[in-house]
Amino acid sequence: MIILKSPREIEKMKEAGKILAACHREIAKLIKPGVMTWEIDEFVEQFLKKHGATPEQKGYKGYEYATCASINDEVCHGFPRKTPLQEGDIVTIDMVVNLNGALADSAWSYPVGKVSDETKRLLEVTKESLYRAIEVAQPGNRIGDIGHAIQSYVEAEGFSVVRNFIGHGIGATIHEKPDVPHFGLPGKGARLKEGMVFTIEPMVNVGEYHTKMDLNGWTARTIDGKYSAQYEHTIAITSEGPIILTDQEMR
Ligand code: MF3
Ligand code: CO
Repeated sequence: MIILKSPREIEKMKEAGKILAACHREIAKLIKPGVMTWEIDEFVEQFLKKHGATPEQKGYKGYEYATCASINDEVCHGFPRKTPLQEGDIVTIDMVVNLNGALADSAWSYPVGKVSDETKRLLEVTKESLYRAIEVAQPGNRIGDIGHAIQSYVEAEGFSVVRNFIGHGIGATIHEKPDVPHFGLPGKGARLKEGMVFTIEPMVNVGEYHTKMDLNGWTARTIDGKYSAQYEHTIAITSEGPIILTDQEMR
């Protein structure tokens, strides 16, 4: 069942999203060679506390950190750690913010120092695929239109779209209906309706789309060891079109 949200509920989630966006803007300034994702995680905890919010991922199904920090070939759910980031790495910081019971979810990939041209293109294409998907998330369109917008663009650029992790409805809990795959056929799937709130969070790989699971049971990485990037927003469908609740950029 898809739980539709009232304008008031969407407003509350937007307040959570604002804190999340501000936190990402600060993280962007912190990421550089030598910094540890463990420190970023501590920063996020403090930042959210200061703003009266809490990290929803911490304690979720036994997950122990405020953030997921996925480096290079890690696709998602990487653990923050005490290894310094290195020039040329990319790191995706993903978090869910809880403000007075309303949630917002956003992940962002950051380059560490100077990265290769291919890596730059991976980041650009992944981010662009997210914004192309948001553009088609109009009331009356279908879930499949979102996946198709991402997949057709990403594959035309020579990259691949991860299949086994997808976007999701969100509200008072992290994972609700609907499922939002980042691949699919136009005109297929559930119709988008005013009051739906969900994430779009394409994970895009340089090589093959297949992933393998680490022994920790959480972290997924690319099967071929090539880089993977991810950008995620929480969006609300309104009569006027989609609104980004976690917007951190002027666009
Ligand atoms: N933000 C993640 C998502 O998009 C949530 C990961 S759950 C965690 O689904 F436990 F790993 F944090
Ligand atoms: Co998510």
